[in-house]
Amino acid sequence: MKKDVQISYEHFKNSSELNDIEKTLFARAIQARENAYAPYSNFLVGCAVLLENGEIYSGNNQENAAYPSGLCAERTTLFWVAANFPDMKVKKIFVVGGPKEFHEKNPPIPPCGACRQSLIEYETKQKENIDLYFSSMNDEVVKVHSIKDLLPFYFDSTFL
Ligand code: THU
Repeated sequence: MKKDVQISYEHFKNSSELNDIEKTLFARAIQARENAYAPYSNFLVGCAVLLENGEIYSGNNQENAAYPSGLCAERTTLFWVAANFPDMKVKKIFVVGGPKEFHEKNPPIPPCGACRQSLIEYETKQKENIDLYFSSMNDEVVKVHSIKDLLPFYFDSTFL
């Protein structure tokens, strides 16, 4: 029997369509992107995380001469947040990425597969959805209501 998976998402043509907290997160992610350590790919990614207490933390991608030892912005940021605030729920994550020399045509950068898996771990743990926004430097934004929307047939602890 053939079945389909349907995914809902929102598309914002530019950041003026965002609400105040979303705009703040976008700005924080852009700011964090500036400090990315990405000398090998020259692809800079920033991430901002909103916690349930209203605080925002940010991070960026960290590369390494031994390439696989680097880490994406999403995991760098979320692992730090989880390490320091293990009981605090994450409400929203905003990701902004693009080449150092970005141009108009750069599309919104979605989290890689490994990051989706890591993000789902925390969404499952907190038993509450996380709004995920991913964006390009040209101001275009995509929002999904849950990390699970980006990873159908995800693996989690219920299978163990
Ligand atoms: N990268 C991220 O930080 N997040 C993503 O969602 C996609 C890729 C980083 C990893 C690496 O440092 C660079 O971008 C190029 O892949």
